[in-house]
Amino acid sequence: MLILEKHIVQSLLDWQTFTAGSGVKANRKSEDIAVISTSNASVLGGMFGLELFESNISLKAKQLPLFLSGRQRLLATARSAVKLLVRALRPATVWLPSYICGVVIDAARETEVRIRFYAVGDSLKIADNHWLAEIQDGDLVIFADYFGFNTWSSHGIEARARGARVVEDACQAMLNRDFSPHSDYIIFSPRKFIGVPDGGILLAGKNTELPDADFPAPPAKWLLQATRASILRSEFDRYGGERSWFKMFQSTEADGPMEPFRMSDLTAAILRIVDWATIKRRRRRNYEFLLSELGELAIFPNLPRHVVPLGFPIRVRNRDRVRRALFNERIYPAVHWEIIDLVPAEFLSSHRLASEIMTLPSDQRYGRDDMKRMVGKLQRYISL
Ligand SMILES: Cc1ncc(COP(=O)(O)O)c(C=O)c1O
Repeated sequence: MLILEKHIVQSLLDWQTFTAGSGVKANRKSEDIAVISTSNASVLGGMFGLELFESNISLKAKQLPLFLSGRQRLLATARSAVKLLVRALRPATVWLPSYICGVVIDAARETEVRIRFYAVGDSLKIADNHWLAEIQDGDLVIFADYFGFNTWSSHGIEARARGARVVEDACQAMLNRDFSPHSDYIIFSPRKFIGVPDGGILLAGKNTELPDADFPAPPAKWLLQATRASILRSEFDRYGGERSWFKMFQSTEADGPMEPFRMSDLTAAILRIVDWATIKRRRRRNYEFLLSELGELAIFPNLPRHVVPLGFPIRVRNRDRVRRALFNERIYPAVHWEIIDLVPAEFLSSHRLASEIMTLPSDQRYGRDDMKRMVGKLQRYISL
């Protein structure tokens, strides 16, 4: 599988729907303990290559992160955690934010379960409170921590007071120090933060029932394809070459199991040894730097101490043109998310946001020089 060509030629169109991160020259030994891919700044963004690690790494984790401790279920995807909850709790209505990943909407669909949306404004805050009055006892309300930021606390309290089960979708906030005390369940998706082929975690709050634990292994074909994409990406990061991993990644993300399957043993093992502290530090450092340079574009212009951001979301009026120009510079901001045809058109602010938002990569693979390069290019293309 080694790929040694140095030059990269690939249609930009292939890169339109990036959803995670990417990097180049992974896993140089550094000051960090283990399992962090770093970049030589050639490619910024895209999926993560499989985390590599030292063969003599201790499997005795010093302190397990919250998402691995407590009462949880380790699943193959986060969408399947939503499906599991909807099936187990049988709510009459699932309330979803008008700005959300399409697979979450799909996962909430079950016969005799109504899906309703509440409005999220262009700055990702909940736009009004009227909908809260329509919540019925036993409904399920999903709130998303967008890019790591909780914008919904008071709504969570109110939803719970009305008898709803509150689900915190922390797929973009997995490394935060704190989560809402008003959540009955929290959902995580580790692939958004590090290089693992699969994974979704359902964490239950105190006194909350957890659905049965006996899940089948994930479909072998899907898992192999997802693992292959991660390995090829990791090799691309080190040696360059083709980008065949990209199409594989796109299709495995789109085909991720909705049915509850258990997390692969590989992912479960990697999650236990990752040097989370360094990852958190680097992500926060990059975000702070981008704030200092691009604060006026930031959707979240402050970084609270407990937040470890997914990336650096900005709004740009000519988003598609700017993004294409960045692709030419091998910088690949993701779009979270395309919601057209998934969310009713009446949620104008969310649709407007979906056409203007992009997420600058600022994860642990990158350092100050990478961020500077990205800022320079962005400033140039935005002003054109
Ligand atoms: C906020 C959010 N929740 C849930 C999911 C689903 O995660 P998974 O791909 O692990 O099913 C996604 C996927 O992009 C997401 O962005």
